[in-house]
This record gives sequence, structure tokens and C-alpha cells, in this order.
Amino acid sequence: MKQLFIIGNWKSNKTVAETIEWLRFMKDKKSDVASLQNKTLIVCVPFTLLYTVSSYIKEYALSIKVGAQDISPFDEGAYTGEINGKQLKEFADYVIIGHSERRRYFQENDDVLGKKVILAKHYGLEPIYCVPDKTSDIPSGLSFVAYEPLDAISTSGAHPILPEEANAAAGKISVENQITHPLYGGSVTPENVNRYSAMHSIHGFLIGGASLDPAAFLSLAHHA
Ligand code: PGA
Repeated sequence: MKQLFIIGNWKSNKTVAETIEWLRFMKDKKSDVASLQNKTLIVCVPFTLLYTVSSYIKEYALSIKVGAQDISPFDEGAYTGEINGKQLKEFADYVIIGHSERRRYFQENDDVLGKKVILAKHYGLEPIYCVPDKTSDIPSGLSFVAYEPLDAISTSGAHPILPEEANAAAGKISVENQITHPLYGGSVTPENVNRYSAMHSIHGFLIGGASLDPAAFLSLAHHA
């Protein structure tokens, strides 16, 4: 049975209080979470929630890993407003890099994304690199790449693509770039996830909307 990575991306959502509610739900369902044997759960949260999430996961002994949603392209120093790799590594093991919303709203290009990948790896963070197109440039030496066609993302169109199409793209990305964990993202729900997870080349998911509700996220993991 292949190992599946179920990765929540909260985007710019949740306060500390709302986050604690999400974590308490997971604590109440702890044995359920632990029973997901071939599935690794990762939750990528805003910077302001990294401390809360990592502390509670430790305190509740939950089998959930923590990720950030972005990383500075610079190392520590005089870069007002930036959060660097060394700071992230205190709380997280993963970091999303190059999400289409970063590319679109913050004009992040391949050059800046390449710098982010180098610093993430330098500090021992596993990049979850996102590409909106199966022909996008991908830095070398990555393990996780998420194929997320723009229109398929729930907030920008919500036209999920066919599982066969997602599989073909994930397969192409994986073969051409030696990616061990090609992922798919875009309007994946508890109802449709098994159609994608059945596909040979898809090794996990990046989940936006459905990761905000802990019941939906857990149900999605069970159905994958
Ligand atoms: P969605 O988002 O699951 O809400 O479509 C996916 C993503 O943007 O990572």
C-alpha cells in the first residue's frame, strides 16, 4: 500500500481560539487519527499559529506534522516582515513554496522560489513545491511537488480536473523531475478523494477549503 500525504493548507484563516478548537477536535479523535496507518497528516498554518499548533500537537501527542505556508528568500537579518528558515524550523518540518496564490498576488517568480527552496533545505525543512502547470520549471532535488491547476482551486474556479488527467500530470512531473511524492491539489473533498488516491502516480493531496473543518479533514484522510 502506498504512503499517502494528506496536507492541509489553511491559507489566511483562523485565530488562535479557532485553532485550539480544531486541535481539541483532533484530540477527541486521537485514536482515529492514529489509525490512519498509511497516511501522513500535515497541517500548514499561518505564521501566527505555528507556536500554538506545534505546542498542542506535542501536548496531545497527535500524529500530525506541522508545516508553514511560506519562507523568506533571505536568511536571518534586516528583512522587515520576513520569517526565515531558521525561525520556521523551531516549529515546522515542512513548508509550502510557490503556491499559485503567492505567484499571483505577490509576484513570486522562479528565481525567488529557487532561493526559498535552497534556504528551506538548508534549515532542514521539507519543501512542498507547488506548480500550476505540468510544464512549470521545478528546482532540482525536491521530493514533494503538488500539481494544482489554477481553475481547480476552490476559491478560483472550482473545476476539479478528472482523476486521470491529474494522474497523467503527476506522472509526467514525477518522471521528468525524479519526484518521489507527486501530489494533487484543487477542490479535493471527502467525497471525491478516493477517485484521485486510486491513481497510480498520485501520492497525496494539498487540501485548502476542506482542511479548515477538522471533521472534513479527518473524513477526507479516511476516504483517501
Ligand atoms: P482547495 O485549495 O482545496 O480549497 O481547492 C487547494 C490549494 O489551494 O492548495
